Amino acid sequence: MAKIIDGKTIRDYNLNLMKEEVAALNEQGIYPCLAVIIVGNNPASRVYVNNKKAACDKTGIISREYALPEETTTDELLELIDKLNADDEVSGILCQLPLPQQIDKEKVLERISPSKDVDCFHPENIGRLSIGNGIFLPCTPNGVMKLLEYEGIEVAGKRCVIIGRSNIVGKPMAMLMLAANATVTVCHSRTENLSEITRQADILVAAVGVPDFVKADMVREGAVVIDVGINRNVNERLCGDVDFKEVAKKASYITPVPGGVGPMTITMLMRNTITAAKNS
Ligand code: GUN
Repeated sequence: MAKIIDGKTIRDYNLNLMKEEVAALNEQGIYPCLAVIIVGNNPASRVYVNNKKAACDKTGIISREYALPEETTTDELLELIDKLNADDEVSGILCQLPLPQQIDKEKVLERISPSKDVDCFHPENIGRLSIGNGIFLPCTPNGVMKLLEYEGIEVAGKRCVIIGRSNIVGKPMAMLMLAANATVTVCHSRTENLSEITRQADILVAAVGVPDFVKADMVREGAVVIDVGINRNVNERLCGDVDFKEVAKKASYITPVPGGVGPMTITMLMRNTITAAKNS
C-alpha cells in the first residue's frame, strides 16, 4: 500500500517557514504584497481567490483584491495592470483565470510586468525557466517538486513521465524535472501506446483533467504517482485523474485529491511573492 503524501502538512510546514521569512523582511522595511485581480462571478475563482488571501494572511504577506465586473473590457483590465505595474508597494500581480470570453487573455498575461509575474505565466519567465535561469517558478509544478523533496524522493536520474502538455502544468513540470536531472517524457492525447510508456515511470505525474484516467495497469509496482487533476466525478465530488483506490495498492507514494498537490499551488504563489518583494 502506498504512502499518502499529505499536501496540507507540507503546505503548513512551508507557510510557517515563509511566515518567519516575511517577518524578517518586514524588519528590513520590505513588505511583500500580492495584488489579485478577479473578473466576473465564477464561483470556483472566488474560492481560489479567497484561499490565496487566507495564505497571505497566514504568512504576513499583504493582500489586495481587485474585483472587476463580468463585462470588463480588455482595455480596462490592461489599464488596471499598468497601474499595478507602476505601484512600488505591489510586489506581485495575479490575474485569476479563467477570464470572461470578451477579454484577450494572452494580451493581459503579457502585460503583467515579468518582475511581478508571480504566476510565472509571462513568456519571458517561461523562456527563462527553459534555460534554467528562472526568477519565478511555476506554482503547481514547483509545488510537486516540493512534495517530492519533503518526502525525500530523489528525482535526479529517475524516469519521470508526465501525462498532459498544458502551458500551466505539463510543459513547465517537464522543465523543472529536467532541471532536476530527471529523464523526462511528456505524453498527451496523441501519444501512442500510452500505458507502455507510463509503466516505465519511476515518477508518474497525471495532469489530464479526466477523472480516474490513470488505472492500476498503467502504473509500475513501486512507482511514485502524483495527481494534479482537479475534477468533479458523477456525484459532483472533487476527484483527481488517478483511480486512487486501485493505484494506491501498487504505488510506493501517491497524492490524494483533494489534499495533495492542490494546497501546494498557493504555497508556491506565496514563495514567488516573497521572491518578487526581495528583488524589487
Ligand atoms: N485558475 C486556476 N488556477 C490558477 C492559477 O494557478 N493562476 C491563475 N492566475 N488562475 C488560475
